[in-house]
Amino acid sequence: MEIIISPERMYEFSEQCRSRGQRVALVPTMGALHRGHISLLDIARRQADVTVMSIFVNPTQFGPREDFNEYPRPFEEDCRKAEMALCDVVFAPTREMMYPDNYNTFVSVENITERLCGASRPGHFRGVATVVLKFFNIVNPHVALFGQKDAQQVLVIKRMVEDLNHPVKIAVAPIIRENDGLAMSSRNAYLTKEERAEAGTIKRSLDQGLKCYEKGERNAAVIKNEITSILSRTDFLSMEYIEIVDTRTVRPVDTVPSPALIAVACRTTQSKTRLIDNVIAGGSI
Ligand code: PAF
Repeated sequence: MEIIISPERMYEFSEQCRSRGQRVALVPTMGALHRGHISLLDIARRQADVTVMSIFVNPTQFGPREDFNEYPRPFEEDCRKAEMALCDVVFAPTREMMYPDNYNTFVSVENITERLCGASRPGHFRGVATVVLKFFNIVNPHVALFGQKDAQQVLVIKRMVEDLNHPVKIAVAPIIRENDGLAMSSRNAYLTKEERAEAGTIKRSLDQGLKCYEKGERNAAVIKNEITSILSRTDFLSMEYIEIVDTRTVRPVDTVPSPALIAVACRTTQSKTRLIDNVIAGGSI
């Protein structure tokens, strides 16, 4: 496995692959790799000849009171895991390479970034869209892989790619979960023992909502009530939002369409860790 730091070298490497007729896949990450990331690499390998995983903790997607400084950065362990998963290249540029002095260009995807996570994390999706477009320009992949766990991120990136006529194909991978249903996330490492023991409640509540939909319920308020009633049974989670939105507009619905995104965000009460999760009713994103 090759580790590339410089964007120029990364671009050149990718161009050489393309000139040999090889398909390039990109898995963008912020490191602290878990089985969710490895599953993206596995899917990438099936869709391309060369897999590139970017590892970059992107400062522009963190708010001033968020965990940019604390975010785990086990780079050597990540490289070992990527290599074990048969990744071809880890691309790990420095902050200065990505955002040199006098950096002034940002990508703002409008309307669909204002609700759900965008409401409590102003500027987050502007940072995500900016860094992801930069990675698309540097790596020039045929296909890029994203996890359904960050469903709004997927919708934002798909919209950006379509609106800006980027030829990359966006592939969405299923959420990888712990045994109790907790969606894998690098931030799960922040949870206290008590919080971790209760965190499976999030998925149980979403499953209950989905069950209700599958039985024919289309009233969003009824489904949201089912989810709330389960989530409010634990003292270790405080709810940020429970929303059912149209996957095109990311607007809340009264009557649940197909497909619809049923999404939850909570903060744990002890370590104040923000956890998100979702299910898609009636289709996929
Ligand atoms: O999902 C993530 O880890 C990040 O938001 C991404 C896509 C790598 C951009 O920094």
